[in-house]
Amino acid sequence: MNKEIEVVLNYHHLTKHTLARYAKGPESIDWEDQPDHFRHFSGCEIVSLPMPGSELNVLFSDLDKPDAISSQILSVTSIGLLLELAFGLSAWKQYGPSRWSLRCNPSSGNLHPTEVYLISAELDGLKAGVYHYVSHDHALEKRCSVSDNLNEGTLLIGISSIHWREAWKYGERAFRYCQHDIGHALGALRYAAATLGWGIEIMAETADADIAHLLGIDRLAEFKVFEQESPDLLCRIKVGIENKSCDIDDLLSAVDAGSWTGKADSLKAYHMYKWPVIDEVALAAYKPRTLKDDWQTISAPVLPTTCQQTATTVIRQRRSAQQFDGKMSPMAQAEFYRILSAVLPTAATFQSWPWQSKVHLFIFVHRVEGLEPGIYALPRNHEALKKLKAGSLDEFAWQLISDALPLYQLHNGDCRQFAKTLSCHQPIASDSAFSLGMVAEFREVMNVAAWQYRRLFWETGFIGQVLYLESEAAGYRGTGIGCYFDDSVHELLGFKDNQFQSLYHFTIGKPLEDSRIETLPAYEHLRIK
Ligand SMILES: Cc1cc2nc3c(=O)[nH]c(=O)nc-3n(C[C@H](O)[C@H](O)[C@H](O)COP(=O)(O)O)c2cc1C
Repeated sequence: MNKEIEVVLNYHHLTKHTLARYAKGPESIDWEDQPDHFRHFSGCEIVSLPMPGSELNVLFSDLDKPDAISSQILSVTSIGLLLELAFGLSAWKQYGPSRWSLRCNPSSGNLHPTEVYLISAELDGLKAGVYHYVSHDHALEKRCSVSDNLNEGTLLIGISSIHWREAWKYGERAFRYCQHDIGHALGALRYAAATLGWGIEIMAETADADIAHLLGIDRLAEFKVFEQESPDLLCRIKVGIENKSCDIDDLLSAVDAGSWTGKADSLKAYHMYKWPVIDEVALAAYKPRTLKDDWQTISAPVLPTTCQQTATTVIRQRRSAQQFDGKMSPMAQAEFYRILSAVLPTAATFQSWPWQSKVHLFIFVHRVEGLEPGIYALPRNHEALKKLKAGSLDEFAWQLISDALPLYQLHNGDCRQFAKTLSCHQPIASDSAFSLGMVAEFREVMNVAAWQYRRLFWETGFIGQVLYLESEAAGYRGTGIGCYFDDSVHELLGFKDNQFQSLYHFTIGKPLEDSRIETLPAYEHLRIK
């Protein structure tokens, strides 16, 4: 085993929560001292984007057949809409003197470690260059002016993480959460692009060092120590039918010849605790240039949705449920099956996923019409079925219960109590219609390279984003669950070693609203300005 893989596996083991102790985090948190959720660069030209909030009449159900959606013209307005629907604010919440914003993409603890950059060729109203997106202001900060014009139609989104912003609250486990958030951000970007009739190509072969160079986040003198960004992914936005590829070396030469401006403002928090293990794992999991994965995805229709809402409505109303109605009438079976069919790698959403699917669902059904409460499994690729059967509890029945889905019943019985206990005693895992663990083919993938650790977490976050939007579309609500007792989950499912590891949990049900919390519009502050 190479040294990097060893470092990553040690990190994974070290940051497991157990029933006896949580992974190492800060002993106390000063809420007044939260890191700024919105990064700004001083000394840059600011490009304000058109006022967010406009509607498109594309229905959420149309996203099942994205090729049939007519493509929006590439302009500053459509780029603004792309950024808003993927990463923009969706609301403000107020409770007493506390006020906080929510975004279209979720984030563990609402800390939003993900930063977003745009690389664009010249357009009417936008000079060619590299820009940082500020979701609060719905504006672009121009970091680099590119004098050699980029190929016409070049449009890329780069994403990175400020690990410390997440570690401030979650300590050593935060690196995992940053990767989940990247997966959610990719999912959010795919839905936003599809709503505009565009596609995304995740440029999976790109090296982290190249992404860092393109986004200017390797210009370390322009960032405060501990507040630097780690590169994650680059996505090409495919506008219209032409299929122009994008050469990374040409882009690198363009930014090398460009002129950079700006310096990251301090995130204003006091760095009381340091988590060196995060720097170690981030370094070990650094991604080099890689070859394209040699596998073929097949597309198949998903089961129909009953949703009549527009895609923009569903995207902007996405929230995490804080509490569920534990006495809800059961979820209709057709809704349950639709939600599950939408996370299969054959669904339209996953056509943009560049790696073979290696994450499978183990589902705790609590309240679904026509299904006995119990444990079910949805292997997301056929080859995994045999391995999952062999690697899990011998007593599991593995009885196929649907013609439409690879859904297997494993065990009958009320599993609300242990679903809750396993998810750090959170009632959201038991009061829902169902909750689930996302189980990765961990050992096999980790044997390939250390950076694949991140790719597995990205896959779980991407699945999570589909679940969030599908539950809204079905009239329910979801919540990502990053807090769970890793090895207790493995024990329950019968996993004996690290062949399989549960990397993320999720829950979906009828939400209970807290009437004391007021909801305010996302961008009213831009009108007042
Ligand atoms: C990776 C991840 C892990 C999360 N873990 C939990 C959790 O364990 N418990 C919980 O109540 N919420 C959890 N959440 C929900 C976040 O707290 C929520 O996304 C955040 O507060 C922003 O709110 P919003 O999703 O309504 O925009 C998680 C979200 C993500 C993306």
